[in-house]
Amino acid sequence: MTAPAKPELYRDLSRQLAALIAGEPDVIANAANMAALIYYGLPDLNWAGFYFRNDTELVLGPFQGKPACVRIPIGKGVCGTAAARGTAVLVPDVHDFPGHIACDPASRSEMVVPLIEDGSVLGVLDLDSPVSARFDEQDCDGCEQLLRLLLVHQRKYPLGNLRRNLDDRASNQR
Ligand code: SME
Repeated sequence: MTAPAKPELYRDLSRQLAALIAGEPDVIANAANMAALIYYGLPDLNWAGFYFRNDTELVLGPFQGKPACVRIPIGKGVCGTAAARGTAVLVPDVHDFPGHIACDPASRSEMVVPLIEDGSVLGVLDLDSPVSARFDEQDCDGCEQLLRLLLVHQRKYPLGNLRRNLDDRASNQR
């Protein structure tokens, strides 16, 4: 059996994500399930997860994969670069990206897609692969679609509102 084409795969993941988060206001629980869905649903990944913005740095959120670097300054590494630019960053070979932060030496390629609401970067979704050039524009579009689904879903829940959850998290750390 041949593997489904990427757009079809992401459509299927979107349907599964919608079902997983339906009725659940807690953004950490929903982000955790989203990370697991991506990690087990997409081929050739060795890390999938979130970093959420806390002022001038990104702080590790729900993920699947090996333990990772906890804090990344905005502008540093692939994650911090995507957060600073507010656009996705695709890295075909992590060894060619100056300042790449290696969490798992097995990682060869990486894609980081920012989580943006009302023009502000709330965090990033980070995917790592042991295969070089694993990610392309279709992966980027697919992950943006999944992130939109999460953001639109969280808007429905005042208590599960992503920004409010993250603001609470940030003020607890001050
Ligand atoms: N490689 C990332 C760090 C996070 S880990 O890959 C999970 C970076 O350069 O920002």
